[in-house]
Amino acid sequence: MTNMLYRLGHASLDADHEGLFRLERSLHQKLVRGRHEDVLRDLGSYIDALERHFLAEEKLLANPQDGMDAVHIGEHRRLIVTLQAHAENYVTQSVGEWGRRLMDCIDEIERHILTYDRLLSDVSGAS
Ligand SMILES: [Fe+2]
Ligand SMILES: [Fe+2]
Repeated sequence: MTNMLYRLGHASLDADHEGLFRLERSLHQKLVRGRHEDVLRDLGSYIDALERHFLAEEKLLANPQDGMDAVHIGEHRRLIVTLQAHAENYVTQSVGEWGRRLMDCIDEIERHILTYDRLLSDVSGAS
């Protein structure tokens, strides 16, 4: 999918974001269909991909003029910790509620890319 809304003009970061959106769509679809066991199985590799991406983004845009700051990095940590808690707190009895909370968290990660990461593109002057 090509969505100009989240283009930073950094080839590798844009490719990461595209890959993450793909994984998020797949998780979303499985959640909507009630395939919670599949979601739980996929969650580990999604968290790994997200963590790798966050570290790459922080490393590539480490200079203050790139717009990466402690608040942005703090958001990365918070999102990973929240996702890990979801992965660890899978309870079969209330799986519907678990799915709704996880979906909220995934939506939040998509909003991060469209808000926090967008600021990076403005600062670096990329189109
Ligand atoms: Fe990002
Ligand atoms: Fe970010």
